[in-house]
Amino acid sequence: MQVVTLIILLFFCKASEFRKVRRNNRGNNDKSNNSKKTSSTVKRYAPGLPCEIYTYINEKYLDCQEKRQTTVLSDWPEDLIHILLARNRIRIIKNNTFSKFQNLKSLDLQQNEITKIEDQAFSGLKKLTTLLLQHNRIKTLSEEVFIQMPRLTYLRLYDNPWDCNCEMESLVIFLQIPGNRNFGNYAKCENPSELKGLKLKQISTQTLCQEEDGKPKPLEGFKATRPSVDSTVCHTYLYPIATLDCKRKELQQVPTDISPDIIRLDLSSNKIKRLQAKEFKDVPNLEILNLSNNGIEFIDPAAFSGLMNLHELDLSENKLCNFQYGVLEDLYFLKKLWLRDNPWKCDYHIHYLFYWLKHHYNVNYNGLECKEPEEYKGWSVGKYVRSYYEECPNEKFQVHVGMHEEEWEKIEGDKNQIQSGKTHGVLLTVLT
Ligand SMILES: *[C@@H]1O[C@H](CO)[C@@H](O)[C@H](O)[C@H]1NC(C)=O
Ligand SMILES: *[C@@H]1O[C@H](CO)[C@@H](O)[C@H](O)[C@H]1NC(C)=O
Ligand SMILES: *[C@@H]1O[C@H](CO)[C@@H](O)[C@H](O)[C@H]1NC(C)=O
Repeated sequence: MQVVTLIILLFFCKASEFRKVRRNNRGNNDKSNNSKKTSSTVKRYAPGLPCEIYTYINEKYLDCQEKRQTTVLSDWPEDLIHILLARNRIRIIKNNTFSKFQNLKSLDLQQNEITKIEDQAFSGLKKLTTLLLQHNRIKTLSEEVFIQMPRLTYLRLYDNPWDCNCEMESLVIFLQIPGNRNFGNYAKCENPSELKGLKLKQISTQTLCQEEDGKPKPLEGFKATRPSVDSTVCHTYLYPIATLDCKRKELQQVPTDISPDIIRLDLSSNKIKRLQAKEFKDVPNLEILNLSNNGIEFIDPAAFSGLMNLHELDLSENKLCNFQYGVLEDLYFLKKLWLRDNPWKCDYHIHYLFYWLKHHYNVNYNGLECKEPEEYKGWSVGKYVRSYYEECPNEKFQVHVGMHEEEWEKIEGDKNQIQSGKTHGVLLTVLT
C-alpha cells in the first residue's frame, strides 16, 4: 500500500509540475505566431477538460482519459511515449492524426465513439507497439490502417460492431497471419446475421466475400469451437501500470487470453470457485492479483505456479478452509497476503499455511482467524497452532511457535519437498 501511495503521490507531483510549465507557456504564447493557431484549435475542437502530462520511468505520458475530448490536440508535445485517450468522444481519426508523435509506443483509444479510421490515420507511428481500439463503433477497416506500424505487437479490436463483408477481407487475412498472435483476438462479427458472433480470427475469407453473392456458406465447424473464457468483458488500462480489470464480470473461470504484459489483474467479485493448476502461466509478470469475493473453495497446489513476481495477493472473502501443501511455494516475492473473511478451519491442515507464513517473515498478512471448529472460533490461527502442540506434551517433537527451520523439517521430514526459502530479518506486521 505504501509503495502504491508513494507512486501515486509521485504522479501527482509530476503532473502538477507539468501543469505549471504548460500554464507558463500559454502565458508567453501571445508573442509567438503559433499561439493563435494553438489557442483557436483548442477553442474550436476541444470543449474537453485539460489533460495531464507526466513522466514515469523516463517515459512521457499524456493522460487524457475521460476528458470529453473529441479530437487529438495540436499542442500536445511531440515526445510523448504513451497517449491515454480512453473514454472520450472521438468519432473519426483522420489521416496523419498522430504523425508527429514519432516515438509513441502505446496509444489507448478504447471506449470512444469511433466509427471511422482513415487509411493513413496512424501513419508515422513507427515505434508503436500497442494500439487499443476496443469498445468503439467501428464497422469496417482495411489492413492498410495497420501496416504502417512495423513494431505493432498488441492490437485490441473487440467490442466493435464488425460488419463482416468483402471490404473486411484484407483485415481478416492480416489478423490471421500466424505471427500476429495478439492482433484482434476476440473481435467478432456483428453483421450479417449469419456470421454474428464469429471471430474475425477464425472466419474464412471465402465466407466473407461469398456472402455478397447472397449465398453464405454453411458454417459448421466454426460454431463447434471450444467455449474459451475470454477477457473481452474486462478493461485494459496502461495507467499507471498495465492492468486488466475484470471486477464484477460474472466470470466463472480465470480468462485464458490475458496479455503477458499485464502487471495487475483484478478478478474480484466474480464467481470463480476453483483455481486450477497453472491458471496464471501466461502472465509471468503479474505483480498484483485480486481474487477477493469469489467464493473460492479450492486452490490447486500448482495454481500460482510461475508467478515469480507476485507481490500482492488478495484472497479475502472466499470460502477457503486451508491451503494444500505447495500452494504458496512459487511466490518468492510475495509481500502482502489478504486472507480475511474465509472460513479457516483450525485443524492439522491449516499448519502448512501457518508455518509458511512464519517461515516467510517478510510477508505481511491479515485475517487468519479460526472460524471452525466451534471451540477455536475467533482464535488467531497462531494461537490455535500453539495450543495444538501444548495439548500434546508427549509428542515426540514438542514444538513452539518460535521454532526453527530445522525443527520444521524434522516434523515434516518425510515431505522432502519443503523449500527452505530465504528468511529476511524483517518483523512480521499485521495489516489492518
Ligand atoms: C513563425 O512560425 C514560423 C514557422 O512555424 C517560424 O519559422 C518563425 O520563426 C515564427 N516567427 C516568430 C516570430 O515566432
Ligand atoms: C487518407 O489517405 C488515404 C490513403 O492515402 C486516401 O486514399 C484518402 O483519400 C485520404 N483521406 C482524406 C480525407 O484525405
Ligand atoms: C480487491 O478488490 C476488492 C473489491 O473490489 C477491494 O475492496 C480490495 O481493496 C482489492 N484488494 C487490493 C489488494 O487491491
